[in-house]
Amino acid sequence: MVIHDVVVVGAGLAGMRAAIEAARAGLNVAAVSKVHPVRSHSVAAQGGINAAIKEADSWEDHAFDTVKGSDYLGDQDAIEVLCREAPSDIMELERMGAVFSRDDAGRIAQRPFGGADYPRTCYLADRTGHGLVHLLYEQLIKHGVYLYDEWHVVSLVTHDNSVRGVIALELTTGKLHRLHSRAVIIATGGYGRVFNTSTNAITSTGDGMALALRAGAPLMDMEFVQFHPTTLKRTGILMTEGARGEGGYLINSAGERFMKAYAPSKLELASRDVVSRAEQKEIDAGRGVDGCVLLDMRHLGKDRIAERLPQIRDLAINFAGVDPVIAPVPIKPGAHYSMGGIMTDVDGKTPVEGLFAAGECACVSVHGANRLGGNSLLETIVFGRRAGKAAAGSCIKGRGLRDFPDPALADAASAIASILNRTEGESAHRLIAGAREAMEEHCWIFRTREGLEGGLKKIRKLRERYGRVALTDRSDCFNTELLTALEAGYILEISEAMLMGALARTESRGSHFRLDFPARNDKEWLRHTLVYREGKGCRMDYKDVRITRFTPAERKY
Ligand code: FUM
Repeated sequence: MVIHDVVVVGAGLAGMRAAIEAARAGLNVAAVSKVHPVRSHSVAAQGGINAAIKEADSWEDHAFDTVKGSDYLGDQDAIEVLCREAPSDIMELERMGAVFSRDDAGRIAQRPFGGADYPRTCYLADRTGHGLVHLLYEQLIKHGVYLYDEWHVVSLVTHDNSVRGVIALELTTGKLHRLHSRAVIIATGGYGRVFNTSTNAITSTGDGMALALRAGAPLMDMEFVQFHPTTLKRTGILMTEGARGEGGYLINSAGERFMKAYAPSKLELASRDVVSRAEQKEIDAGRGVDGCVLLDMRHLGKDRIAERLPQIRDLAINFAGVDPVIAPVPIKPGAHYSMGGIMTDVDGKTPVEGLFAAGECACVSVHGANRLGGNSLLETIVFGRRAGKAAAGSCIKGRGLRDFPDPALADAASAIASILNRTEGESAHRLIAGAREAMEEHCWIFRTREGLEGGLKKIRKLRERYGRVALTDRSDCFNTELLTALEAGYILEISEAMLMGALARTESRGSHFRLDFPARNDKEWLRHTLVYREGKGCRMDYKDVRITRFTPAERKY
């Protein structure tokens, strides 16, 4: 057994930022990640990070845009924290060495992003996540955070009703390890790979959310999935919103700039839920091109594309065979981000003692029913920092670490052995394929009660079959089939929670659109859905939205 003060699960931007902050308090901190930090999904973030850093902007305007973007489901006290603290966090990143793109006056450049009334998205060309991940990795090393990379956390250790560490599988050897700690921070990102068409890395399988659910923490607002409007044909690779921020626009098969009909004022820079639904309607009405619509950037010219959007040009050429300098790029909506997640307060604290969460896996809730582009990188930095500080504070104030009887290692070993020893059974790959097909058919952009009930039935059947999951590879060294089997379990549990939330919410708000309840219903639904684990299933509960300064109003773009 190894002992740390704080164990952070996940080493993307939120995890690294949390670990750095906890280490700054002088504690012994470890980060455990199934991939090396510079391969975390945060590296795929392209367009930028929001902050009101110019005189003509204000944190209050940022907060208003965020509340409106959330379709009034975001908790306004939490949004206030996000937007108030953004500028100083950007300055801190700059001091650490972030190479933000500059404007003509040499200040940090900002571009327009969807749903915002001011161009407040700071960026590093179209490689913002990449730049920030490498920056924080340097800081992680500098602060002496102990790194267990290519280790996968299979369960949380609980003692006296509080989380006191993790059990992790060392992927290179197949050995299980017990890491005890005084606090655990989950920062494992989202669950985009519950779907086939997704901008997410194949590692985004909702692991941390499922682990927290199993440990008794509630998942909040799981019905809200962000479908990004511009993902590349076939692969779903992200084509940043920065392309539209720089002036790129959307056209249908007739060459019409169709957003004029859906969002006459903001056009392509309406919020993502609005743009994605518009695209899907065009495609469904037969005005698409081979299941897509087109993102036209030709008028930006080669030089501007090379300066501001070099990565997406490469991606479009390499993965769709289209050079945006010469031709419009075929794109369609794809699953991008989970607004829902592990319920936390503004310090990352979950209702389970000793357990914290930050980043996409958490739901504070600052995004409500729809996140604005550029607020997700910001969330990782602001709430990663806050969770790291709060977890460190809980250790300093809290009890010391004593050894205690811990059956978690033996339980995890026997669960894994039972999968490895099964000679016949269900393929994890097939179960995941079945889940993705069901989620895309029943829990995509447009939803109905009938469809969601059908989806839930399919997922529950798949969960039963999961009890018989078996492998063809029984080796110890880098057994990726075993990892896939564990991920299949998370995907199925998360899918069930999403479908339950989507069925319960009998209204349309933000990204959750019910064809059978097409209007927003503030009277009944200005509240969050909560899903708790109960036995092998789940139960629902609800929590009111916190409204402070902005009265709910109709959203128009
Ligand atoms: O389009 C993008 O660059 C994505 C940004 C975000 O999700 O915040």
